[in-house]
Amino acid sequence: MLFLLALLSTLHLHHHQALGYNVDDKHPKIFSSEAAAGKSYFGYSVALYAGGEDSVLLVGAPRANSSFFPGVFEPGAVYRCSPANGSCKEWLIDVSGGKPAALSSFERQVKDGSWLGASMDLRVPQEDESTEARVAICAPRWKKETLYAPKRSYMNGMCFSSGVSRRGTSRRYFPLSKTASQTVSLMDGNNYYDHGMAEAGFSVHWPTNSRLQFALGAPGAAIWSGSSLLLTEKLWDSATDNFEATIPKILGDARFERSDYFGYAITSGQFYEPGEVLYAAGAPRSSRTRGKVFVYQFPSHKNTQLLVKDILDGEQYGEYFGSALTACDVNSDGRDDLIIGAPLWSRLSDEGRVYAYVSQGSQKSIHTYAVSEDFCLHYMSLQLHYYVT
Ligand SMILES: *[C@@H]1O[C@H](CO)[C@@H](O)[C@H](O)[C@H]1NC(C)=O
Ligand SMILES: *[C@@H]1O[C@H](CO)[C@@H](O)[C@H](O)[C@H]1NC(C)=O
Repeated sequence: MLFLLALLSTLHLHHHQALGYNVDDKHPKIFSSEAAAGKSYFGYSVALYAGGEDSVLLVGAPRANSSFFPGVFEPGAVYRCSPANGSCKEWLIDVSGGKPAALSSFERQVKDGSWLGASMDLRVPQEDESTEARVAICAPRWKKETLYAPKRSYMNGMCFSSGVSRRGTSRRYFPLSKTASQTVSLMDGNNYYDHGMAEAGFSVHWPTNSRLQFALGAPGAAIWSGSSLLLTEKLWDSATDNFEATIPKILGDARFERSDYFGYAITSGQFYEPGEVLYAAGAPRSSRTRGKVFVYQFPSHKNTQLLVKDILDGEQYGEYFGSALTACDVNSDGRDDLIIGAPLWSRLSDEGRVYAYVSQGSQKSIHTYAVSEDFCLHYMSLQLHYYVT
């Protein structure tokens, strides 16, 4: 069976010269996997590493059964495909085994339906770095189960990081699994999910300028207001505690409302000043489903609020503004611009729209934009990709 990978938006940049080309949809190169046949969602996420002989296309199949974990129901899988000959092979990224393994004497992990490969992002080292390209891959529906009564299952989400060419030496992270932060009791006397349904890794982004830090979206955190968090890897390899998580305070922050799904998509860019990295994350159900995108920095102290620099608003109810994001310097002025997908925008029937917000750097603003009808990009914007070649 063949599965088509569609690149829905591709922009090309070379030596500070902005070039555009149209996607060749007449001669596609098709990658497929027999093993991922059926309803595995092969192609749900993709990451292309163009590194000469080491080039590899990573493909997520979040509902696949895994050849490594035969007893687990649809844990999800990641495939390594050769751009040269098109063949794909499953990659063992999770070396911690498939069985419901104990996390402690009173908790265990459940990998059935964990959606490994639902999101991934790849970071290519900059010219002066000798390190290899790394990739972060997530399983946002990974669950933690309590073994004491009443039994509870928390969908915290898990992520991995690994060198692109290394096999079986990944690190794993489940930063939102601390027992005390699963639920929160509010003034009304009820308990609500704080990190208990966070789905960390629903989106993931590894900024080009940071070797050891990457960001996760967690749209189910804080009673589905959503959140995003920053993981900082420690240099040494150690089985436990090999990272620090910056988890901002969302509950009680009036800029976020319940069910906003902040963190549905995440990216970063140097939007205002070269050298100043800002994150951008979408909250597609914010503003009564018109959607918002927040441009912000993570706080330097734990449990403090995000430093929000700008908020961009969707225009149409239900358009899902901010559910896909990417950043790049479209007009070659040295500052990144922000591309925002709104896949359910409608004239007649959910045609979808792509917004390109162009940085007005000196004014610290990115409020001027063009929409896809203006720049002739009639693609649905469920996924946005940007490759530097
Ligand atoms: C995974 O395996 C189970 C049990 O054999 C089967 O019911 C299910 O359809 C399989 N899923 C996929 C996506 O192939
Ligand atoms: C395809 O290329 C990869 C990597 O270069 C190689 O490992 C693999 O054996 C090749 N597969 C086939 C079917 O030629």
